[in-house]
Amino acid sequence: MNKKLIIYLILIVVLVVAAFLVFQKQLLTFKENKVSFNNQSTISQDQSSESEKTEKREEQNIKEQNIDTKKEEKVEEDIQEEEAFTMDEIAKHNSEESCWTIIRGEVYDLTDWISQHPGGPDKILSICGKDGTEAFIQKHGGKEKPEETLKKFKIGIFEAQ
Ligand code: HEM
Repeated sequence: MNKKLIIYLILIVVLVVAAFLVFQKQLLTFKENKVSFNNQSTISQDQSSESEKTEKREEQNIKEQNIDTKKEEKVEEDIQEEEAFTMDEIAKHNSEESCWTIIRGEVYDLTDWISQHPGGPDKILSICGKDGTEAFIQKHGGKEKPEETLKKFKIGIFEAQ
């Protein structure tokens, strides 16, 4: 009787151990699968973020190219837009109603500036309808404020006949 019990006990122990081993093995394979799955997903994430980066870089390049072409177009426009005036045309604008002058080969409409000029309206009126280069340079040549103010009134370039 005792012998039988011992055999049963041994059998039960063997079964439990075997079951435990099988369970452990399955647990191990499950863990391995999980790790490789995670790796794959990080790799694919890396790949997708890499391709996103390339896409963004390409977009940026296209944007920069567009800006460059726009700049080039603007420069071309500016060159084309510059109107040329002859002396005959400029000479007609010699009063406070319409005052044009030439300074360093460029034409300025100073009509609105006559009443604003800190040096008085007569100084501006004296250069309406003619070349004011000498008078302007004598008084303001190279000085920042008059030079900057002058830029605002430019309407074109002087074309000698
Ligand atoms: C015939 C030519 C001109 C003469 C003789 C003349 C003369 C003067 C004089 C006497 C002043 C007073 C203050 C100072 O001595 O700086 C003055 C100021 C000034 N003028 Fe003229 N001017 C002339 C043309 C112009 C033109 C064409 C512009 C620009 C559109 C201009 C812009 C100015 C400005 C911005 C000031 C103030 C300067 C400051 O605050 O520093 N002037 N000018």
